[in-house]
Amino acid sequence: MDLLDDDELERSAVVANCRMNRERGLLGSNGYDRELGFNPLDVLRKPSGESRPAGWLDLCCGSGKALIEAARIVHDEGMDVEIVGVDLAGLFRRVDPDQDRLRLVEASLGDWRPDRGFDLISCVHGLHYVGDKLALIARAASWLTEDGLFVASLDLHNLKIADASPLGRRIAAALRRAGLEYDRRRRLVSCRGRKAVDLPYRYLGADDRAGPNYTGQPAVDSYYADA
Ligand SMILES: C[S@@+](CC[C@H](N)C(=O)[O-])C[C@H]1O[C@@H](n2cnc3c(N)ncnc32)[C@H](O)[C@@H]1O
Repeated sequence: MDLLDDDELERSAVVANCRMNRERGLLGSNGYDRELGFNPLDVLRKPSGESRPAGWLDLCCGSGKALIEAARIVHDEGMDVEIVGVDLAGLFRRVDPDQDRLRLVEASLGDWRPDRGFDLISCVHGLHYVGDKLALIARAASWLTEDGLFVASLDLHNLKIADASPLGRRIAAALRRAGLEYDRRRRLVSCRGRKAVDLPYRYLGADDRAGPNYTGQPAVDSYYADA
């Protein structure tokens, strides 16, 4: 089977798909709170006296709409929060000049890395398009603060072992052993607190012909072999 490397995948029509939803807001029926099950800003309200600003990193942030709305609230309420969004496509909405606590970065998460730890790391419907999903989950867990929270949408059907059998159950068990959780009903993987995650799988490449996953949009299957 011909699998794609990261460069090929990032040029694929499935990843560049202009019909995918890059416009979720912070709250409401098309909002991050609905997808994640909580309002991200609630996680970032730190007890006063904390010496450094709280940090929220959003992976695959799309247009940045949710982050821009959050930054406006952070500014209006005088919260001490830094927000960083990263997306491959760079199709960001305009950011007001007074939103100096918000940074939207055009980059591939295959090689981008942050320069601080984060109290919250989210990835809302982004992993569906990433090649090495397990590596990004592991990297995100290592970017958390000691008691930070990582939450990402993940369809286990998009994880395959080399003979094309689904890895779903095995991965869920391996994630649990590594200290992460997978909520099957909400299809969310999460990690509480910074962790060194070492999963026993070797990434082989991606298949952009996987077809729609539960989101209804064409997604990317990620292939692994036992390490
Ligand atoms: C369905 S959109 C979700 C956007 C946003 N989280 C939302 O819910 O509105 C998925 C996003 O993942 C981004 N993406 C896909 N592969 C990526 C990669 N390797 N690195 C960074 N962003 C990526 C795409 O550019 C796209 O904007």
